[in-house]
Amino acid sequence: MKSVISIRDFSRKEIDSLIVLALEKKRSGTVKKLNKKVASLFFENSTRTRTSSETAAENEGCYVNGFAGPEGTSVMKGEPLVDTVRMFEGYGYDAIVMRHNLEGAARLACDTVSIPVINGGDGSNSHPTQTLLDLMTIVEAKGKIDGLKIALVGDLKYGRTVHTLLQAFELYKVEVWLVSPEMLAMPEWRIEDYKKAGKEVIFNDDLMQAISTVDVLYMTRIQRERFPEGPEGDFEYKKVSGIYNLNASMLKEAKKDLIILHPLPRYKHNLEIAIDVDKTPYARYIEQARNGMFMRQAIIERVFGKGFEERKKKNEEHNLLWQDLKIEHGKKMGQHMLYRLENGTLIDHIEAGKGESVIRVLGLGKYKETPMIYAKNLTSKRFGKKDVIGIKDKELSEEELSKLALVCSHATVNMIRDNSVFKKGNVILPYKLVELIECNNPGCITYKKHHEHAVSVFYVENQDPLRVRCHYCEKPMSREEIKLL
Ligand code: NCD
Repeated sequence: MKSVISIRDFSRKEIDSLIVLALEKKRSGTVKKLNKKVASLFFENSTRTRTSSETAAENEGCYVNGFAGPEGTSVMKGEPLVDTVRMFEGYGYDAIVMRHNLEGAARLACDTVSIPVINGGDGSNSHPTQTLLDLMTIVEAKGKIDGLKIALVGDLKYGRTVHTLLQAFELYKVEVWLVSPEMLAMPEWRIEDYKKAGKEVIFNDDLMQAISTVDVLYMTRIQRERFPEGPEGDFEYKKVSGIYNLNASMLKEAKKDLIILHPLPRYKHNLEIAIDVDKTPYARYIEQARNGMFMRQAIIERVFGKGFEERKKKNEEHNLLWQDLKIEHGKKMGQHMLYRLENGTLIDHIEAGKGESVIRVLGLGKYKETPMIYAKNLTSKRFGKKDVIGIKDKELSEEELSKLALVCSHATVNMIRDNSVFKKGNVILPYKLVELIECNNPGCITYKKHHEHAVSVFYVENQDPLRVRCHYCEKPMSREEIKLL
């Protein structure tokens, strides 16, 4: 693995070794003479991530060029992301560092070009290099991450830095406090992901209580730019702005060795951290930002060196679509009117009530030339009640079998020729689903209104209950949430 797209791709060993390398670079000043070309493509505002990445690349002997904001580029003419990144590959750049307002943008770029891509933030989703420098700063101050109590404070809904930090904490033994107003709470699915890793979080909207308890206070800016546009967004923002403003007088009850972090920028019109905190021994955010350069140097060295060790996925990757079942009563003649299909496909054991969905996703209602038999609410030994659908003179394609499995998990498919079942089985969804599901996240790069023409890709994380995850924005969906393309 040579790209840095999501912290979910990184093993703990890899993260720990990057921290060691970055701290070593900071201590000794050692650099490589890499002699590579790095494209710095910032489609969205940035101060630290862009300049520290560029300085890091230059320190390691790279040539850097690109753009800081879409103004002045053909992005403003409506160019799709895939074309922009292909150009830089074509000009002989060896890697891309990029930031974009859409979730999954870095993943799409990485799938498009063959050079490594480093994600400097993709919408509300992810900011892996920030998380690595945050962890580095914690290790530098505390000597460890395990065993610490860490509060994430403020905009946990839209803030990509806290989303990514929480994903990294899946790998550590930390006590995580989520301190936010309800309106800016960490998305439910992100907490579910964290819990699936065997962890618990502590919800508490009382900042004072967090201050007196935790070892690390991670403050964030309210991400005004990610609120809905128009009066609705203005109203929401007014309700929460200034809700957690920290000042030095609030730190009286803090542990002596508390550290305060903030990815920066802070918002000058309503400071999350008052200027008087800067002089206290707790303030680490300026040093944290400086560490960004050393961490990005470590990342650049690895990108052009041995690459990164991947985190092992728990779920099985397989391309199966079919599991054969024993054919017991090959001849279906005469058993039941319904089974009198000379040729075609009989879909049995559909959970009662799901028949309509099967008809819809297979488009059976539409074409008259595919005569269909549909029986509802039959008695089933296995499910109590079931629906059964027979389609005359038709075999299902792989795509149709996948769609069937997406709406109902237990169906048995009988393929019939000359009055005999010649193939019988259950459909099992393959690990990777291409161009089948529409992502329901409006911030996702695959969302139609963004016109980025990204082909939908989902991974099946769990068959029953079904859970799939968008390859780009990483948001999971349950069977009930799935909308087929
Ligand atoms: C953060 C970001 O862009 O997500 N900043 C950063 O990279 N240092 C946080 C923010 O903008 O509030």
